[in-house]
Amino acid sequence: MGCDCGVPPGEVVVVVMLSLLVIAIIAVNIVVQRKVHKLEMQDTFLVRQHSSFQIQSITKQIRSLLSSAQVRPEKPNRTTVFVMPKVFPSFAAPSKSKSVNDWEIKNRDIKLMEKVASGSFGDVYRGEWCGIQVAIKKPSKNIPEEFFAKFLEEVEVMTKLHHPNIVMFLGACIEEDKLAIVLEYLDRGCLFDFLRDPESEKVLSYRTILKFAVDIARGMKYLHQRCGIIQRDLKSRNLLLDNSLNVKLCDFGLSRALANENKNTMTACGTPYWTAPEIICGDAYNEKADVYSFAIVLWELITRDEPYDGRPGLEIAYQVAQDGIRPALPKFCPDKYLTLMTSCWDEKPDARPSFTELLDRLHDMAKAEKF
Ligand SMILES: Nc1ncnc2c1ncn2[C@@H]1O[C@H](COP(=O)(O)OP(=O)(O)OP(=O)(O)O)[C@@H](O)[C@H]1O
Ligand SMILES: [Mg+2]
Repeated sequence: MGCDCGVPPGEVVVVVMLSLLVIAIIAVNIVVQRKVHKLEMQDTFLVRQHSSFQIQSITKQIRSLLSSAQVRPEKPNRTTVFVMPKVFPSFAAPSKSKSVNDWEIKNRDIKLMEKVASGSFGDVYRGEWCGIQVAIKKPSKNIPEEFFAKFLEEVEVMTKLHHPNIVMFLGACIEEDKLAIVLEYLDRGCLFDFLRDPESEKVLSYRTILKFAVDIARGMKYLHQRCGIIQRDLKSRNLLLDNSLNVKLCDFGLSRALANENKNTMTACGTPYWTAPEIICGDAYNEKADVYSFAIVLWELITRDEPYDGRPGLEIAYQVAQDGIRPALPKFCPDKYLTLMTSCWDEKPDARPSFTELLDRLHDMAKAEKF
């Protein structure tokens, strides 16, 4: 058998066989590749299925941790790694209807203890609030109608003050007929009483006097420079001492904004011994009126006495304004202190140093004395 193209029949058979072999190899290759792909697809699916399982299980664990933290917060699970803080519902959604001001304290939350002092505002009590000792300032029972506005004015001033030498305002009760100002409690009371305590003699060296003066000047500098406030009633009864003998300013009932400087006539004035002549005369005054009061406090610190021997306030006010009298200069006092004091009570407000200048002078004095 042959082919008429002239190719020998044996060679035709070889070519056909080779062709069949090539086709078979290609076919086998295709089948193998398909199988591999199928396996790979299955593998991927398995991996995906596995990770999806893991995520589901982690989510489940987190959910159970969350629910255990929220439902039973009082019994914390020691093996729990993930703890959600419990949020008090009242904090999470503050209700404006409960309290208009964030500084408002409800009367039911304060505990009144013994009376520690009485002032023109009313009585001051030691008390408790939120587990701490506090001072509670309560106005007298028969308060005039316009008093509420004055009370709010003092509260408004106090909410803005944040300084280590200013007594810390904690809040106020504004329920009708139950007004009160809540302050940090200062154990050593006011400077006026401290100076009259025989115990204070032991600690009242010039070093301590300078420290007290620096504390007061720091608080006053903050009021004038940072807050634009004139204290107007700086005196030893309005200076409080803590257990470490740090001095803090209190009582902002008469404080006024510096911005109204030119309108500040004697609509209200502090205590005559400490009041600057320009305020007594009803003239315009500025923050230097507080520097005058500081001079009288410095005199008190040095003498531990009452200015003008406790003579009637009105008589003193008249003589300060009319005759320019000042407390008698102590004979035993170093010149530096006398110069400082007399420059602070100068008749002319402009000649008095500012509290910034005063602080520099006090620091220089402390350095010179090697305190
Ligand atoms: N935070 C406080 N901690 C301890 N004692 C205080 C505190 N606040 C006031 N006091 C005491 O109460 C006295 C009167 O306080 P404060 O000056 O604030 O009231 P006031 O009625 O305005 O007095 P005044 O008008 O006579 O100056 C102080 O001199 C001091 O003895
Ligand atoms: Mg006072």
